Amino acid sequence: AVVLLLIIAIVLAVILSPKDFKSTFMQRCKNFNGNNCAAIWDAFQKAYVNRDQCDVPPEAYDSLIEAAPLETSCNRMMFWSKTKDVAQDLAAKKNCSTLERTLLGSILDGLTWCGKRGSNETLTEGCPKWDDCVKNPVRSFWNRVSAAFGDAACGDVTVMLNASIPTPFDPKSIFATVEVKRFKSSKVKKVTVVLVTDMNSVTNCKNKSLQDLQNMLDKGIIYSCLEVQKSRIQECISDQNKSCGSCW
Ligand code: APR
Repeated sequence: AVVLLLIIAIVLAVILSPKDFKSTFMQRCKNFNGNNCAAIWDAFQKAYVNRDQCDVPPEAYDSLIEAAPLETSCNRMMFWSKTKDVAQDLAAKKNCSTLERTLLGSILDGLTWCGKRGSNETLTEGCPKWDDCVKNPVRSFWNRVSAAFGDAACGDVTVMLNASIPTPFDPKSIFATVEVKRFKSSKVKKVTVVLVTDMNSVTNCKNKSLQDLQNMLDKGIIYSCLEVQKSRIQECISDQNKSCGSCW
């Protein structure tokens, strides 16, 4: 009986243990057709291994970005805040580029990682949560890649925001603190806010925070805001023939 229990315990431990982080990383990298995934892994883990879990600044990922530059195309870039699911579904359907559809974004979307002092391991448990400290490995990664994604913005860009919250342009969001600030009028022609509305909407394009967004844009960038019902967006996702925008 003891042996049987031991076997059950071992089997359970194997099933329940998180899939090895590195193998998930490499698999996702290869699925994206990353050609030097070993070098990308190397640059990635150097950012946080052997470091205090709350002392990894965004710059720690500079060499990762160098090893795996973001590839994007003008007029097809989509930004979002508080609309992750619908934005990703739309981008996939319309072949538009969200950060999560770039190589680095797709590898690390949904993952948690950190290191610890005195070890070269990558941990996936006991890592700081998003708000536990500012300079945690995950938050700094998203800040750093979002800066690169914002820098790459060009042509007409689309931003999906949520009308079911009082402040669709949240001043603390990555979109507000990192991305918008990097839109340059020499490259970005127009910013179109698609404000997703539904029965629970509490606001519209006249929202004060959207005025703030407009004021934050470089002079010369055209701003427009469209209120679009979520049901209409769902039709844009499911029906090819529906007349929608280029990225919605
Ligand atoms: N706790 C945990 N995760 C968080 C938190 C938090 N408090 N805040 C943000 N995140 C992570 C989550 O993964 C969440 O899905 O960031 C994601 C986006 O958060 P939002 O507040 O919805 O949006 P925003 O901060 O504006 O980030 C999205 O930044 O990553 C880029 O290009 C992307 O335009 C997009 C924008």
